[in-house]
Amino acid sequence: MTNTIINGMQWGDEGKGKIVDLLCPAFDVVVRYQGGDNAGHTVKFEDRHFALHLVPSGVLHPEILCVLGSGMVINPDTLFRELDGLLEAGVDFEGRFFISKRAHVVLPIYPVLDQARETAMGKSQIGTTIRGIGPAYESKITRFGVRMGDLLSSEWKRRVEEQVARLGREIAALGAEVPDEQEVVARCGDWIERLRPFMAETESLLNGWIAEGRNLLFEGAQGARLDVDHGTYPYVTSSSPTAGGACTGSGVPPTSIDGVIGVLKAYTTRVGGGPFATELLDSTGEHLRDRGNEVGTTTGRPRRCGWLDLVAAGHARMLSGVDSIALTKLDVLDELEEIQVCVGYRLDGEIVKGFPASLEVVERVDPVYESLPGWKSNTVGALELSDLPQAAQDYISFVEQHLGATVGIVSTGPRREETIVRRDETLSRLTSGGLAAIVEGAAEVEPPARS
Ligand code: GDP
Ligand code: IMO
Ligand code: MG
Repeated sequence: MTNTIINGMQWGDEGKGKIVDLLCPAFDVVVRYQGGDNAGHTVKFEDRHFALHLVPSGVLHPEILCVLGSGMVINPDTLFRELDGLLEAGVDFEGRFFISKRAHVVLPIYPVLDQARETAMGKSQIGTTIRGIGPAYESKITRFGVRMGDLLSSEWKRRVEEQVARLGREIAALGAEVPDEQEVVARCGDWIERLRPFMAETESLLNGWIAEGRNLLFEGAQGARLDVDHGTYPYVTSSSPTAGGACTGSGVPPTSIDGVIGVLKAYTTRVGGGPFATELLDSTGEHLRDRGNEVGTTTGRPRRCGWLDLVAAGHARMLSGVDSIALTKLDVLDELEEIQVCVGYRLDGEIVKGFPASLEVVERVDPVYESLPGWKSNTVGALELSDLPQAAQDYISFVEQHLGATVGIVSTGPRREETIVRRDETLSRLTSGGLAAIVEGAAEVEPPARS
């Protein structure tokens, strides 16, 4: 039995959806544990393309049990759209999709408040996804929130009305239009019967499955640099994407976790505001955006692009205890003559130790780069590490040496089949000895039947 956490090691969009989908043949359950529909996880195989915001990326495998854990904030409107899309695509999730009664509801007033606050902040805005994620977590922590399970009690109407009254005052003060209280209540009422069959005490279910010897995969959303405690605060999301969040956000204890796979893009992207030391505002940045198709899955915004930052990634490795790295989008570097990698930060001539807590410092540091030769050849679809050009193999070794963890997976394209899975001991342990099944699954693509 093995329970493994998948974490983003940067600012999100590292390719977590692809890696979760790839690993599913070795697992029985996939759990989302934090965030909400601010996430956008893409899964591609053959000509199929899925963009998932709430439902775990394991849903495309017919045997996988899918759980939305207690640490999530869930917008039922988005969820139903997503479920309808899956049904249309022939993906049957009946009897294998569960929502924690302890997860919080994203009420329709939260995105309105999110937008009003962002507008009011003007230039210093966070650049949120406007999905109401901040207001949802804020309401949870101040104990005014509405939980999924509350929708099944007689109390829910009063709690929703209170929230609309409370937050409506702030929305009005910000000069935005306050949603009609009874319309919000009616919309919530419309959700209840469709949600009811999915609601469960998922914490007991998950621990019961562990006791039965099933393998659980925890699908992190966002990335370490967006973590509310450890990221580039306040330019962060409002939850804990790092590995610790998997326990609080699912009710599975740390003693049941076997390890962490960190997903690391071969360069860096960020959506929204906030410091980004290795950002490229030149033609190389544009090349990465074009070749990497770096457009937000959730918001359609162009992603900011830059070189790989091993200071930031090293911090993520430490925070989540990353055992093995899945290096993604290596192919996006295929045409570059020279590749820079940030190996340190310098402030006023001095090398800074670690990733600075102070936003002001992060904004002022100069990256220290090492320059590596590009390989200027096609890596897409390579199946073995030895098939890669020597310079690409050297790039991977450089990352491993600096981060002190092995790269177990190398992704060279968006599809399952465009992946190198190394038969190394750590990856084998983290996938319960299921590497053969994973490799076979990637090669023998079995798309869900079209309806
Ligand atoms: P997530 O949020 O971490 O799941 O990542 P996203 O799905 O938001 O963004 C990753 C994007 O890169 C998606 O469009 C993927 O289809 C794509 N992708 C994933 N891995 C690779 C890869 O190795 N090469 C290329 N070219 N694209 C990839
Ligand atoms: P996945 O799971 C990239 C960013 C937003 C903004 C900040 C706060 O696909 O990797 P929020 O709406 O959460 O309050 O916005 O966090 N952000 C993401 N960036 N990938 C994501 O998810 C993100 N989810 C939130 O752009 O900067
Ligand atoms: Mg994404």
